[in-house]
Amino acid sequence: MTETDFWADVDRHLVRYGGSFVPAVIERANGSFVYDTSGRAILDFTSGQMSAVLGHSHPDIVETVQRSAATLAHLFSGMLSQPVVDLARALARVTPGPLEKSLLLTTGAEANEAALKMAKLYTGAHEIVSFSQSWHGMTSGAAAATYSAGRRGYGPAAPGNFALPAPNAYRTRFTSSDGEHDWRGELDYAFDLIDRQSTGALAACLVEPILSSGGLIDLPAGYLRALKDKCEERGMLLILDEAQTGLGRTGAMFAFERDGVVPDILTLSKTLGAGLPLAAVVTTPEIEARCHERGYLFFTTHVSDPLPAAVGCTVLRVIDRDGLVAAAARRGERLRAGLVELQTRYECIGDVRGRGLMQGIELVTDRLTKAPAEDLGRRVTTECLALGLHMNIVQLPGMGGVFRMAPPLTVSDDEIDLGLEILDKALSASTATG
Ligand SMILES: Cc1ncc(COP(=O)(O)O)c(C=O)c1O
Repeated sequence: MTETDFWADVDRHLVRYGGSFVPAVIERANGSFVYDTSGRAILDFTSGQMSAVLGHSHPDIVETVQRSAATLAHLFSGMLSQPVVDLARALARVTPGPLEKSLLLTTGAEANEAALKMAKLYTGAHEIVSFSQSWHGMTSGAAAATYSAGRRGYGPAAPGNFALPAPNAYRTRFTSSDGEHDWRGELDYAFDLIDRQSTGALAACLVEPILSSGGLIDLPAGYLRALKDKCEERGMLLILDEAQTGLGRTGAMFAFERDGVVPDILTLSKTLGAGLPLAAVVTTPEIEARCHERGYLFFTTHVSDPLPAAVGCTVLRVIDRDGLVAAAARRGERLRAGLVELQTRYECIGDVRGRGLMQGIELVTDRLTKAPAEDLGRRVTTECLALGLHMNIVQLPGMGGVFRMAPPLTVSDDEIDLGLEILDKALSASTATG
């Protein structure tokens, strides 16, 4: 089939589900690269959809999938097997003390849906607070708590959802008298508004420790502690969504560790399956017990499936065996240093932010006004792809284009340098024509 025929079939037969398709036909993927049908290597700085933390076609994952597919892949949802219990035990070991109980599911949205239902049943309340630039998934409960995109045109979202302003240090709305980002004032004011709107039925706060689709916004140090206090004052649960930040990407096993906070419920997805569909809801025995007493129901086709659970066990084992959390911290520093260096040469890089191997750069037309550089973002993306680097740009109203970079934890120093070199060339070519 020619490329022309391929794209004609795409036009004829595929539903368009968001944004535009990357103009390349991918045939295979290995390590930090994907390869198109002409054999061209493209450095994958998004780890697939921010998930393939072990790179593509990792030998341990290939072995696990082949063995599980040949022996035990899928079961009746009430039937248990060893990989499921092994993964639940492994998750209890890598998470802090009280998080001992896991529910194993398939996608991030589903895990958040299950966590929200748990919080509602546990508290007997239904109101949910999440960030104004959040992304928690496409199913209805998760979508009702998602504010970065997709709210228009589908009728009412679940009643009782409130937005908390995402604390964006680069584009602060709240500044103290010394010009610093007054995130505490911002948080206090937000909860003052939430308390006024609430019907007295606040159930949970659902947040990402680094807002990814919202433009790679890292929460200020101390913010999660303050948020947990707000939740406790109101009898709400804190649900942390570590779909992208979990399992080492930020240079810590979980991003929440930086703040010394333990969530009541933790949701994991993307990185847990390293690119295969696996998600988990991890919570305390106390929350699990009360929900069970009240008839908690989350019986899906693929709950507790052995094949993805075996993959999750392998992911955790490889991360531990190969020291990938420390590696992400080290390689993240190299990536960040390179981006900061590019910022000294390109006026259009207004901000460099992130943690570990989850970094973002925000493009602006003017560093003083911080006016968004939307066209430039598109040109740089196209230029990068032409030169062999795939990156994702988030374009949100009122923000410059933000490039998200999240290479696999297995990325080498040379691959990071190659990515930086391509980005340099792409910026140079795009600003010259701009
Ligand atoms: C933080 C976060 N939570 C949840 C989701 C939804 O996960 P899924 O697409 O697997 O349902 C995403 C997806 O991008 C995400 O980034």
